[in-house]
Formats: sequence, C-alpha cells, structure tokens
Amino acid sequence: HPSAFIFDLDGVITDTAEFHYLAWKQLADGLGVTIDREFNEQLKGISRMDSLEKIVALDPALGGLSADEKERLATEKNEHYIKLIAEVTPAHILPGMESLLKDIQAHGIKIALGSASKNAKMVLEQLELTDYFDYIVDAAQVSKGKPDPETFTTAADYFGFAYADCIGVEDAEAGVEALKRAGMFAVGVGLSLSEADYIVADTGTLHFDSVITHYNERSDS
Ligand code: BG6
Ligand code: MG
Repeated sequence: HPSAFIFDLDGVITDTAEFHYLAWKQLADGLGVTIDREFNEQLKGISRMDSLEKIVALDPALGGLSADEKERLATEKNEHYIKLIAEVTPAHILPGMESLLKDIQAHGIKIALGSASKNAKMVLEQLELTDYFDYIVDAAQVSKGKPDPETFTTAADYFGFAYADCIGVEDAEAGVEALKRAGMFAVGVGLSLSEADYIVADTGTLHFDSVITHYNERSDS
C-alpha cells in the first residue's frame, strides 16, 4: 500500500472549480475581456495572481497595470468567489469522495490536502471534511505553486514519506505536472489529463481498489 494520499481540493473533493471560473468570468467581463471554459482549463490549479496574469495577458490594453492595480483586481475576484462559496455545504462533496476518504482511513493510510487556494481550510470546514485530513498544505505554506512540486512534497516531507510512496489526485494539468515532477503516482480526474498515471472520467468512478491496483502495477514498482 502507499503511505499517503494527497488530494487537490477544487475540482476533486468539491466542484468549487466552477465557482472559481464564474468569479474570474465576472472579473474579466468587467475588464472587457472574454474568457470561456476552454481557456479556464489553464487557470485550474494555479494561484490567484498567476491566474490574473493569464487573463491580463489576453488584452494588450491591460499591459500597463501596476502591481497595486493587480492586487486590487485579485482581491475583487476573491470577493466574488467568497460570495459564491458561502453556500457550500456537505451536499457539495463530489460523488464518491467521502467514501473514498473513509476507505483510505480504514486502511491506515495518511491523508493530506495539497491545494493552491488560500480559501482551502474554509471550504473543507464548510464541507465538514476537515477531520479526515492528517495534514493540510494550502497556498500560505508554499513559495512556488503548481506546476512546481512544492505543494505535494511539503505534505510528504511533513510525514517523512518517500515521494514514490505517495498518490496524488488532481483535476488540473498544472497539478498533474506537479505530481509527476515530485515523483508521485498521479491520479487524474478528467479524461483530458493524459500525463496522469491513472485517469478516471469523474470522481464517481474513482474507487480505492482500482487506484491501489493501478498504483501496484506502476512501471517502476
Ligand atoms: C486552486 C484553483 O485550487 O486554487 C484555482 O484550482 C485557484 O482555480 C487557486 O485560482 C487559488 O485559489 P484562491 O482561493 O487562493 O484564490
Ligand atoms: Mg483542482
């Protein structure tokens, strides 16, 4: 068995990825920039400021924004987002995720969160899932966000586990890249995540036994 599972939050445990998108869209509309769901794939998993930089880069007219103006815009996006997630309850846990957490725990495997979000602890509380997590890594703890591996290696280092003995679960390209660079086994939620070691269409088809089977069959084991 692996030593730990490290979960991304937004888009894996709960569908807050949609709320992030809606909040960015609201901000972008105000700037006269159009973003769609396809572009949004690039925003998944990366930090708030890195996301803003990608949106600003869509329009040359926004090239002259000062650091203060960018801070203000990032704060405005977060205000939209906070309003959207105020309604989050345990009903917003994605299908199968709570039973997966229970299965992992029942096998004595550690569980960590590896999220790029500054709102991660609040969202976990609203979902009433905090108690499943032995350790939480959020945006406050890392200097380099995904696709840098630091988010995931910080969790493994806390436990003192070898990276190859950890399984990460991600819905974002940047997150899968971070896991692979860490040397961890990457489970991708979403069929487009071709770099992942094991891919499922959605959390409803993410089961403990099949993840373990694929982990044990990995090429370097
Ligand atoms: C990640 C999301 O989990 O957190 C990104 O996938 C988001 O979309 C990032 O931008 C940062 O979140 P926050 O809550 O700190 O703005
Ligand atoms: Mg995600």
